Amino acid sequence: MTNRPLACVILAAGKGTRMKSDMPKVLHRVAGRPMVGHVLAAVQALEPDRVVVVVGPGMEQVASAVAPFPTAVQTEQLGTADAVRASFGLLEGFTGDVIVLYGDTPLVSPDTLRAMVAARRGAEDPAVVVLGMRPDEPGAYGRLILDGRGGLEKIVEYLDASAEERAVTLCNAGLMAFDGARMFDLIGRIGSDNAKGEFYLTDAVQIARASGMACAVVEADPSEVVGVNSRAELAEVEKLLQRRLRRAAMDGGATLIDPDSVFFSADTRLGRDVVVGPGVVFGAGVTVGDRVEIKPFCHLEQVTIDAGAQIGPYARLRPGARIGADVHIGNFVEVKNAVVEPGAKINHLTYVGDARVGAKANIGAGTITCNYDGFSKSHTDIGAGAFIGSNTALVAPVSVGDGAIVGAGSVVTANVEANALVVSRARQQSYPGWATRFREGKQKEKAKKA
Ligand code: UD1
Ligand code: MG
Repeated sequence: MTNRPLACVILAAGKGTRMKSDMPKVLHRVAGRPMVGHVLAAVQALEPDRVVVVVGPGMEQVASAVAPFPTAVQTEQLGTADAVRASFGLLEGFTGDVIVLYGDTPLVSPDTLRAMVAARRGAEDPAVVVLGMRPDEPGAYGRLILDGRGGLEKIVEYLDASAEERAVTLCNAGLMAFDGARMFDLIGRIGSDNAKGEFYLTDAVQIARASGMACAVVEADPSEVVGVNSRAELAEVEKLLQRRLRRAAMDGGATLIDPDSVFFSADTRLGRDVVVGPGVVFGAGVTVGDRVEIKPFCHLEQVTIDAGAQIGPYARLRPGARIGADVHIGNFVEVKNAVVEPGAKINHLTYVGDARVGAKANIGAGTITCNYDGFSKSHTDIGAGAFIGSNTALVAPVSVGDGAIVGAGSVVTANVEANALVVSRARQQSYPGWATRFREGKQKEKAKKA
């Protein structure tokens, strides 16, 4: 029984009118990832045999976001049962268990999905398992009406519920698991005779019960099944997920000095004994090695940082930055699309873009790789152990050989040989006593005018 095939259907055809957005609702991001991507990630943890995402007409953006998973188009928004029907073509011949999820409910955990599947495969062999919850404010959620024996009798939508039914606190979180062998028939029999005139997926329960089949409830923590219908709810879900990600980072062996001020992406990976200061933001695609310290107020995105590196405070690491072991990146340093090899130091006020900085090189304050000529990007190569004096402009394409020294204030436009000294600023000239003579002259001029 536990080896039965599993299919997952994710409903995402809703227009999301209340988001007031030109973008389909499920593409709005939470912790850097579209909502539907979170649902897919939870689903993938169960290694399903089939996944279908149901979208509305013209939602090509959703289709490309969920690829390679296939999408089925629900032509008209006639209700949740109609949406599941739209997936039937892609589920043809499927006889295992089917979980129906919502694309706008991104926090559901794989464990909850597993609990639903386990209940579906339980001794009573329920035709439908519904995910229930007891939110603080049951509001307009559908209500789960139990029979005397703890089984699920029916689901009533809020608009169709009596006062007595509305007083029930056990609510429909929306997710359901079906026995695939019975699902097509059950959902096929759902009509639209209700307050909204929609085909309610929830009616599958009553229909199953009327045919003598069992239905069951699995309860989830309400925080896992919060749905997003507005920007305010999007922010709420972001908050919940950030709390979860901070907790996971600490459980994984990272110190967060002020957890509430650190923002993670869903895919942030931290090693052991990483220390993260206040106000650090992890954009998508960041991997941090063991013992790395990220000091306050850094912004990181699509970067890999190897063990023992020290970053910040106030550093910005942009896409394509690869920071080697024990590297120091200091305040107001920006690194983009550049490899910084082990032990190199870039400590102050510097831009390194489209470059390689060799092992143990030292980049002085105010160094800039001039990587862009207004048309295209060029590469700067700095050798191992090179010393770049402060306020140097490296005009790419250009290379500085291993062990070379560039004098402060240089504008380097030609390649520098290994172990050479290069100074490319005007030679210093000195005029002894000039300043005294200058001041005396000016004072006399002023006295005459007075
Ligand atoms: C639904 C449940 C309700 C439950 C609530 C939990 C039904 C009839 N009601 O109500 O019991 O308490 O969720 O949040 O199922 N969708 C489509 N096509 C459609 C209609 C909806 O794809 O034609 C998708 C939406 O994009 C959304 C999901 O299905 O992802 C739920 O639809 P929604 O209209 O939000 O249902 P609720 O009225 O909230
Ligand atoms: Mg809803």
